[in-house]
Amino acid sequence: MTGQNVRKVTVVPNGPVLVEGPVELVTEDGVTHTSDRFVVAVCACRRSKRFPFCDTSHRKRVRTDTSPE
Ligand code: FES
Repeated sequence: MTGQNVRKVTVVPNGPVLVEGPVELVTEDGVTHTSDRFVVAVCACRRSKRFPFCDTSHRKRVRTDTSPE
């Protein structure tokens, strides 16, 4: 396999999936989303307000400890 036609996809731990652009991304509702960025960050946490694209919402911690400090 030559590197010329291979598209690199990088899974970021606790973050997005980085896909070399441009991309056409089809969500489960059948809508096609396009991006012509060099690298496209696809949301893997579903917290993005720009879903299916990452808006860095994955960085916000969800507090699990509800006891008083
Ligand atoms: S992965 Fe970044 S907002 Fe979901």
